[in-house]
Amino acid sequence: MTNAMYTLPKAELHLHIEGTLEPEMVFALAERNGMELPFASVDDIRSRLDFTSLQPFLDLYFECGAVLRTQQDFHDLAAAYLTRAHEQGLRHVEMFFDPQGHTARGVPVDAVIDGLLSALAEAHEEWGITGGLIMCFLRDLPVESAFALLDSVAHRVDDLIGVGLDSTEVGYPPELFEQVYAHARGLGLHAVAHAGEEGGPEYVSGSLDLLKVERVDHGIRSLEDPELVERLRAAQVPMTVCPLSTVRLAGVPTMADHPLPRMIEAGLLVTINSDDPSYFGGYVGDNYLAIQQTFGYDNLAMAGFALNSVTASFASDARKDELR
Ligand code: HPA
Ligand code: ZN
Repeated sequence: MTNAMYTLPKAELHLHIEGTLEPEMVFALAERNGMELPFASVDDIRSRLDFTSLQPFLDLYFECGAVLRTQQDFHDLAAAYLTRAHEQGLRHVEMFFDPQGHTARGVPVDAVIDGLLSALAEAHEEWGITGGLIMCFLRDLPVESAFALLDSVAHRVDDLIGVGLDSTEVGYPPELFEQVYAHARGLGLHAVAHAGEEGGPEYVSGSLDLLKVERVDHGIRSLEDPELVERLRAAQVPMTVCPLSTVRLAGVPTMADHPLPRMIEAGLLVTINSDDPSYFGGYVGDNYLAIQQTFGYDNLAMAGFALNSVTASFASDARKDELR
């Protein structure tokens, strides 16, 4: 029988579409695009997934992501993800993408957006999945690059849900992006940011105060600052936690050490997500299953996480009512 963790209707709010690139697709796209790969085989890529921190993962993520060249590639990537997401009970997805990783290789940002949107439109048609795109700024690139990216999509902001901030966290604090975010919010875009994944709680408070984020991505190190925890609890700021990711990036040694139970006990609004499923060993339902098996949450508690994912989404109120 299909496990309830896969059939439970849910939303995914922390998913990097480039992080769904499976090794088999890396090879298929490299061949289609006539590219040489620095990997011997699919297994060679799989043998490199024992990361010890964020940076070695990011290096591999960008190396593999280099095979994405055409609008069709982005369509095929998102279509493959959405098929798996559908199989794991996903009804709504707010998908991160990293245009600066692609425009640097000469791929037009419009090809990226159009490819991803066409797959989302098909998933809506076929399965009724709703959602859209959250455009992320790579925080280790110059702020001018983020501004240039935002300017380049300003004519089509209606095709985006919001902006996010990802890549190397430590050393690239939120204050760098205060003006970029102000501009994005002025265009009517929602604001989220990775914070407190490897960086300390000050990255989370800075994201709230300066970037005015509506959700915090990861946010696990918030627990080190009781005042911040109280603030997040009182305002019910959604946290997009990614259990398998945090274990794989050695934020914690094993799932049993994950701070998730402490976040829940603190009264935080926690959602469960997959982050970069092809690199971290599982899609959204696999993350639900992993925490249920580790912490023994019953199905009612697990349904609570799914409900949180709907509440924390940027779906319309009417769509949220449908999903609850
Ligand atoms: N953290 C920061 N940057 C990222 C991640 C992440 O988990 N995944 C893809 N880019
Ligand atoms: Zn992430």
